[in-house]
Amino acid sequence: MDFEAFISSRISKLPFKRHLPIVNENFEDFCSNDYLGLARRFPFMDTDFIPSGSSGSRLISGNHPAAISFENYLSEFFTGFDVLTFTSGYMANLAAISSLVPRNALIFYDEKVHSSIKDAMRLSLGKKIPYPHQQLSTLEKKLKKFNTGIKFIVTESLFSMDGDFTDLEYLTFLSEKHRAYVILDEAHAFGIFGHCHRGMAEYFGLEEKIHVRIITFGKALGLVGAAIIGPKPLREFLVNHARTFIYTTALPPFIYHLLEKNLHYILENSDIHKRFQQNLELFYSIVPSHQPVKSPIFMFRPGKSNLQETAKKMQTHAWAVKAIFPPTVKPGEEAIRITLHSFNRPENVRNLAYFVKKQLHG
Ligand SMILES: Cc1ncc(COP(=O)(O)O)c(C=O)c1O
Repeated sequence: MDFEAFISSRISKLPFKRHLPIVNENFEDFCSNDYLGLARRFPFMDTDFIPSGSSGSRLISGNHPAAISFENYLSEFFTGFDVLTFTSGYMANLAAISSLVPRNALIFYDEKVHSSIKDAMRLSLGKKIPYPHQQLSTLEKKLKKFNTGIKFIVTESLFSMDGDFTDLEYLTFLSEKHRAYVILDEAHAFGIFGHCHRGMAEYFGLEEKIHVRIITFGKALGLVGAAIIGPKPLREFLVNHARTFIYTTALPPFIYHLLEKNLHYILENSDIHKRFQQNLELFYSIVPSHQPVKSPIFMFRPGKSNLQETAKKMQTHAWAVKAIFPPTVKPGEEAIRITLHSFNRPENVRNLAYFVKKQLHG
């Protein structure tokens, strides 16, 4: 079989095919992760002395002062915790889990964790023990049942698809009781939640009890990249063990420069968070939610009409929303995912909320 026929035959066997959507800039953005609108700003470079490329890995030629400066700033922002940056959240999750979990250690994980965490576990030498989504009582049973050796609990603070928050108080209680280390993906919470916007660990006052946090810069910071946050000497450990740090080209210096500017910008401009919170308040004043914290991610399954029809109707309102199909979610769990932002126009948020309410309750 020639190569084209080989790949075509594999495509023809796919149960679900993905398509690349074209972004319609005239639509109101209810689908991106650009929660605070920073991805829409035109970068303002206030220096001519930042090279565009990093020229190599951090351990060879890519350790530009802009990288060090941003990591120092981030470490200060995270009250002195160790920080190491990566080219993406995907790479940071691969690094954290594959390097920290030793052979035969146990990894207890929420079955709905992001695919980057699932892939990280495939790379690690640990044994995987899933628990049903957010069922921490089942996690406890499993922690009791498999009570030997080194244990890790891996989950997300704000789930990227369902938009629900993990009960970090109970999770850290379990981790202390059963002596398990916690690796927490804060991709969707960093930059938004907590008094200083460090994420849900900060929100709950649990930063000292969560061993490792992963934050990403492609969401609230509007750029690209990620970091692993933890106690000393985690940075030194990762520089020596994390293969997705060691064997890859560093982020370009100009990106580090912009990351520092964007973090500074959201810390200095409290009105962005105010507008963001106002939009969440507005949406949830119409669409009821049982969550203790208002989430910028809302997934819903239309009650009567089918998903495609609902998604099409939403397009006629020029709302950019995303229908989520397998393999991103399990078959039968197809849904529409909405994300709310600081820059969404209140009248659009209100209309969208009434539309969703009608779809849910008829
Ligand atoms: C929970 C979670 N973790 C990690 C990632 C990966 O981050 P990145 O896009 O920076 O690779 C994502 C991306 O959507 C995510 O939702």
